[in-house]
Amino acid sequence: MLAEYTEVAGETTRTFLSAPTRAVHQYLREWMERTGMSVFVDVAGNLRGRYDSENPVARRLYIGSHIDTVPRAGAFDGVLGVVLAIALIENLEGRKLPFHIEAVAFSEEEGVRFRVPFIGSRAMIGDIGDDLLATRDPDGISVREAIQAFGLDPSRIGEAQADENALGYFEIHIEQGPVLEALNLPLAVVDSILGQSRAGVTFEGRASHAGTTPMHLRRDALAGAAEWIAAVEREAQNISGLVATVGSLAVQPGAANVIPEHARASLDVRHASDLVRRQSVERLLGCAGQIAARRNLAASMEHHLDQPCVALDDALVRMVEHAVETSGHVVHRMSSGAGHDAMIMQRRMPAAMLFLRNPGGISHNPDETVLPEDVAAALRAGASLLRGLENSHG
Ligand code: HGY
Ligand code: MN
Ligand code: MN
Repeated sequence: MLAEYTEVAGETTRTFLSAPTRAVHQYLREWMERTGMSVFVDVAGNLRGRYDSENPVARRLYIGSHIDTVPRAGAFDGVLGVVLAIALIENLEGRKLPFHIEAVAFSEEEGVRFRVPFIGSRAMIGDIGDDLLATRDPDGISVREAIQAFGLDPSRIGEAQADENALGYFEIHIEQGPVLEALNLPLAVVDSILGQSRAGVTFEGRASHAGTTPMHLRRDALAGAAEWIAAVEREAQNISGLVATVGSLAVQPGAANVIPEHARASLDVRHASDLVRRQSVERLLGCAGQIAARRNLAASMEHHLDQPCVALDDALVRMVEHAVETSGHVVHRMSSGAGHDAMIMQRRMPAAMLFLRNPGGISHNPDETVLPEDVAAALRAGASLLRGLENSHG
């Protein structure tokens, strides 16, 4: 259902505050309100539903994930965590707990539209500055203008912040890899999230006629980019635990009979060690400069993200482990290669995550799926976590 709300017919593509976001908000808002939540959209476009305790000064537990997607996404990455957050509250059937609960549908986690991820959760920890608000998408629209176009007031961005003394943040996500399928486990408890760098390199040469320009006189931007992309892959193949990806390549003028003048390649690098990751990024950007110099090209670099590794909150992680155990499942701890809003929320409050197996380990792909019995297992573990928190905060 929610996967049908898309910018592109026939696939699931939903970027920051795009038109289909409104339809997703409407669908979730109606469901949230049926479960007794009071619902609002904050200044960053996060849809938030509050299910408050009878104790007005109770602390608040946030449960959620993101509703934006990558292009041609699957139906579960992010939105599954939002749906399960609402389902956990619905399953309370009106019973109030000694702590408030807030279900959060983050407006932007993937970083597709503005090349900078986590805009929704960064707003909830007060980490949105003028530089980010001024960042422009490929159409030249700034984050500030996108927020205004959605009918929100970016000058009030500070109001999106979460409670100071929050109880914590809990996120349920598909596991985004092949691990759980290989272990034949439905669930895993996440104790850390890999750091990631996002950058871009633009090679500039000279457009010229493909038929009349001898090879030795060419300044071919795409050939330079291609040599660099192969170097990116080699770097990751040669360093244990490193993954490096060029996910997008834009070529101009883009005609078969014109030697490419511009080629912009993205770069995504991840590793469990921030030092190793940063050293690889530095080597790769240096390599781009050397390739450009050798080919009589110009190369310019962009830095979009340097997100350090995050260790999630040990006490809350242990409570999630206990919840998995008491809901009858084997406990498996693991690190996440995918970034998640939990790594941002951990900067402001204790955060923990629960992974569900995703068959084939496929995500960021329309073939992404989950098993109904694993979703049921995640709900049982989530309900068990709420009981655990109720007992410890009752
Ligand atoms: O790319 C990631 O780490 C996640 O899908 N946002
Ligand atoms: Mn994702
Ligand atoms: Mn995700």
